Amino acid sequence: MGQFDSALASEAFNQNPYPLYHELRQQAPVYWSEAWGCWLLTRYDDITWTLQDYRTFTSLGRLTATMELPEPLWERVAPLVRHYSQGLINVDPPDHTRMRQLVHMAFTPRAIRKMRAYIEDIVERLIDEQIERGFMDVIWDFSYPLPVTVIAEMMGIPVDDHAKFKRWSGEIVGFMATPKPMPEVLLKSQDALLAMQQYFRDIYAKRRLAPEDDLITALVRAELEGEKLSEEEMVSSCVTILIGGHETTTYLIANGVYALLQHPDQLRRLRDNPALDAAATEEFLRYEGPFQRNRRIAARDVVIGDMTIKKGQLILQFLGAANRDPSRFDQPDALDLARSPNKHLAFGYGPHFCLGAPLARLEAPVAIRALLQKLPKIRLAQDDLEWNSALFRGLKSLPIEFERA
Ligand code: HEM
Repeated sequence: MGQFDSALASEAFNQNPYPLYHELRQQAPVYWSEAWGCWLLTRYDDITWTLQDYRTFTSLGRLTATMELPEPLWERVAPLVRHYSQGLINVDPPDHTRMRQLVHMAFTPRAIRKMRAYIEDIVERLIDEQIERGFMDVIWDFSYPLPVTVIAEMMGIPVDDHAKFKRWSGEIVGFMATPKPMPEVLLKSQDALLAMQQYFRDIYAKRRLAPEDDLITALVRAELEGEKLSEEEMVSSCVTILIGGHETTTYLIANGVYALLQHPDQLRRLRDNPALDAAATEEFLRYEGPFQRNRRIAARDVVIGDMTIKKGQLILQFLGAANRDPSRFDQPDALDLARSPNKHLAFGYGPHFCLGAPLARLEAPVAIRALLQKLPKIRLAQDDLEWNSALFRGLKSLPIEFERA
């Protein structure tokens, strides 16, 4: 086992990864983890290079290449492997460019801007539902229902199905939490994936016959130089958008509220100057981003720092470590809501830069601004909070108490 492997597997790392990120960056910025069977990157410049240079660092097979399974099991998980061997997030240009342009035609900045009033209404309603109680769990009462309702409305799917989306999404991404998932985790992920695929296939069939004013219809219609998304590409894009579209934003909002509660000076600063909300959102993304472990595969032997990465090896890009790299950010461990410049990598970088960033950047400031306006005094209702160990970084729950305005 390598020098840092036991620390990487520790609960301390799960609760607070930043001290180990700093140690790795200083002592072993390109670190081979025997236990995880992959390279770990913690320097900002290495991570931007590996995100940008898709010829050297491919997305093909990034989620499945390191799975170690006996032969019969490979056959059983073939549908999962097939799904994650193609689709927007798993292919490189030029295939990726074509698919991304088609998806972007449906998921436009205009379609996103149209959601503002709707988002404001839900935010208001969710806070009002809790206001008399003087208590809420920021995650379960607020930052979870908000994005799932918004993405369901945009896609044109019944929001009442949200319990299903949550279960499926959590189970599907379950296998991505470690590079070598256990067989039972894989099979559970696959069952959920098959169910979600069928759900979208049914809606795809309906929208082809009876178009509506929603994202799925727009995906069905999107056409570029005579080319359209195939049914499989369209279903895969919907799975990515639904998964990408809710839990990440849930934790962006909750991690932001938690960071404010831990930094009363910054909380006051935002209350005194609500126009800081957009800059504050960028700082929450940098300081405690909800997605920290991105992946690429080396497409050829390549030297990073003084290490040689072999063709086919997996590289894990710790985005949260890049976002605290002192060569890029002054006082990287400090929360500074007006930080400028703030070129964090929470949404990735290069050709796969997050397609949903404009939506997250709309939802989070609206949510946090309203929360602070309607609840002038908020405090943590519990001290011993725990971070989850799932793919997306967030607390298990965030109970707060407050007085109403
Ligand atoms: C705080 C919220 C979010 C974070 C931190 C986040 C993070 C990321 C990251 C790091 C990537 C790049 C993956 C890579 O390079 O391989 C990505 C891609 C993507 N995200 Fe997000 N995301 C967020 C919200 C959303 C939302 C709201 C949606 C959709 C509604 C979304 C949809 C997507 C899609 C479709 C891609 C794939 C883009 C491509 O491969 O070209 N994300 N996201």
